[in-house]
Amino acid sequence: VVAPVIAIDGPSASGKGTVAARVAAALGWDYLDSGALYRLTALAAQKAGVAWDDEAGVAALAASLDVSFAEGEVCLAGEDVGDAIRSEDISGGASAVAALPAVREALLFRQRAFRVAPGLVADGRDMGSVVFPDARVKVFLTASAEVRAERRYKQLIEKGFSASLDKILQELRTRDERDSQRAVAPLQQNVDAQLLETSNLTIEQAVAQVLAWQQACG
Ligand code: C5P
Repeated sequence: VVAPVIAIDGPSASGKGTVAARVAAALGWDYLDSGALYRLTALAAQKAGVAWDDEAGVAALAASLDVSFAEGEVCLAGEDVGDAIRSEDISGGASAVAALPAVREALLFRQRAFRVAPGLVADGRDMGSVVFPDARVKVFLTASAEVRAERRYKQLIEKGFSASLDKILQELRTRDERDSQRAVAPLQQNVDAQLLETSNLTIEQAVAQVLAWQQACG
């Protein structure tokens, strides 16, 4: 029997990561932040001096990434890089390497390896369409660009970083556009995904909705 999967896809800063992690915790399931794998790939390339548009070079790195996720820490070759992979620079790099088919292919098997009993909650762009097409619950979680920019802005300010709301909004729009227009696994709501528009929802309400859909699947 294969473990059940809840796939949560959506644009950057939609809050899908927070919602996915809480749903996983509520169910006692594992959680996969697939975006972190693209971010780690971009960081590994930068560290190795491999250009983000060198498809074969980046794919080779992606296939052999030495990563570990434990207790909320993200490690690359044993080093905690949780903050480093969230920088704007690496966000752009992740979006760039994610547009390369060979990189997506290399990360496909690594993502599927996270599917273990009793279940997995996975968030990203193509969880329901490509990586786990047989997921029992598929959600497209989104919010307006303005709301997402505001959420990202607050997050940065709370962490003590300085930030510009305008700049964040602009970068979000650029990244959305690149993620939705690329040839492979573009960001889009699948026909079989439930839409969860969170502009006017709290995190708790969004989590409760996903759990209700999961329960409805028996
Ligand atoms: O979700 P997050 O913003 O961390 O993802 C970083 C980048 O990785 C995105 O801009 C997107 O291009 C890419 N990505 C992807 N497929 C996924 C997850 C992330 O292409 N499943």
